[in-house]
Amino acid sequence: MANTILVGAQWGDEGKGKIIDVLTEQADVVVRTQGGNNAGHTVHLKGQKYILHLVPSGILRRKKLCVIGNGVVVDPVGLVEEIEGLRELGIRIDDNLFVSETAHLVFPYHRELDAQRESVKGKNKIGTTKRGIGPAYGDKAARTGLRVIDLINPERFKGLLEAKIRENNGILRALGAKPLSFKAVHAAYRAAGDFLKPFVTNTVILLHQALERGDDILLEGAQGTFLDIDHGTYPFVTSSNTTAGGACTGSGIPPHRIDRVVGVMKAYTTRVGEGPLPTENAEIADMLHAMGREFGATTGRPRRCGWFDAVATRHASMINGIDDLAVTNLDGLDSVGTIKICIAYRDGSRRYDYVPNDIEVLGRCEPVFAEFAGWQTSTSDARHWKELPAKARSYLKALADLTGANLAIASVGPGREQTICL
Ligand code: IMP
Ligand code: MG
Repeated sequence: MANTILVGAQWGDEGKGKIIDVLTEQADVVVRTQGGNNAGHTVHLKGQKYILHLVPSGILRRKKLCVIGNGVVVDPVGLVEEIEGLRELGIRIDDNLFVSETAHLVFPYHRELDAQRESVKGKNKIGTTKRGIGPAYGDKAARTGLRVIDLINPERFKGLLEAKIRENNGILRALGAKPLSFKAVHAAYRAAGDFLKPFVTNTVILLHQALERGDDILLEGAQGTFLDIDHGTYPFVTSSNTTAGGACTGSGIPPHRIDRVVGVMKAYTTRVGEGPLPTENAEIADMLHAMGREFGATTGRPRRCGWFDAVATRHASMINGIDDLAVTNLDGLDSVGTIKICIAYRDGSRRYDYVPNDIEVLGRCEPVFAEFAGWQTSTSDARHWKELPAKARSYLKALADLTGANLAIASVGPGREQTICL
C-alpha cells in the first residue's frame, strides 16, 4: 500500500473512520497525528458500532500497530475510558498501541476555558466540541503545556500541575467560573498516568524503525481541510493542522517518505459547529436527519447539510495534494430526484473558483450549481462499479473530475463490505 496520508476534504465527518478501516487491511502501522478527542470516527463491524476518539481506527484489526503521535493532544482520563470501553467490546489493546511521549495533555481547565470562551462569544461562538482542544493547543504554542512524558514522571508532574492549576484557577475565577481542586485532578491524572505508562514511548523512533523495516504506514487524519487552523474557515476551525502537512509534523515522518495522499469526502457536504457553509440546504438536512443520519459522533449534534461543494473539494485537493479520492455516503442521495453540485461561488457580480479567505465574503457567497439527474434507487447493495446505476456512476465521475483527483473508492453504507474499490 505504501505510506499513505488520509485526510478529510471537507469540514470533517467525511466517513474517514470507515475508509481508514478499509485501508488498514493493507497497512502495518496506523498513526493519529493531530487533534484530540474532539474527533469521532465511527466504524460498523459485524453489527457492532465502534466510535473512536483518540485511539487510531486501525485498532479494530488485530496485528496492526497503532500510534498516537506527537501532534495529538491527549486527554489521558478520556483515553483510559476509551481503551476500557473498546476492551469491553472484545478489542485487544496491549502491545499494539503506542502513545507519544511528547504529545500534549488536555486538562479540565482547558475544557472549562473552552466552554467559557464560547459562552463569552455568544452568537459568534465557534461551536466547539468543548473538549478543551483550543486551549490545550494554545498552551502548547505558548510553551506552557504539559506532555505525556511529564504525566508518567510523578514527581515532576505534581509540581507542574500545581502551578498550572493555580494559574488557571485565577483565570477561571476572573471569568466567574468554579475553580478546580488540585487534589481531585491530580488523583485522576496520576491514575491515568499509571494506566497509560506501558503504552508510552518515543514514537518517532518507533515509526522510523517501521520505515526501515519497510512497513506500510497509514497516517489517519481527523477533522477536515476546512477546519485546518491555517487553511480552514478561520476562526471557525479547530486548533490543529488537519491537512496533509500536519501528518508529517504530527508524526515525525518526513514528507519525502509519503507515497500517496487519499482524500475522503461525502457525496454531499456536512458541517457541525458554526461558520460559513455555502451550499447549506434545509431540505437536504431534513431528508438526511429523517433517515437518522448526520448526527455528530462526539456531541450528538445534528450536522448542517448541503449539496456537494466542488469549489471546496478542489481547494482541498490542491492544499493536500490528493492523489486518490474516497467518496462516502453515496447512498444518502439514493432518493433525490435532481442532485446539485456547486461549481463556483458568486458574491454579487464577482465569481470565485476558489475559496476566498475573507470569512465575510465566504459567508455571503451563493453557490453556482450544475444539476445531475438522480438515480432514485438503492445503491447500498452494490459491491462493484458495474453494479451502480449509470446515473450514480456519472455523478461520482463528476465529483472526481471537478475535485481534480482519481476516484479510488465509493462507499454505499457503513459496513466494511459496502465498499467499491475501483
Ligand atoms: P474544537 O475542535 O472542539 O475546538 O471545535 C472547533 C470546530 O471544529 C467546531 O466547529 C467543531 O464542531 C469542529 N470539529 C472538531 N472536531 C470535529 C470532528 O471530528 N468532526 C467534525 N467537526 C469537528
Ligand atoms: Mg466524526
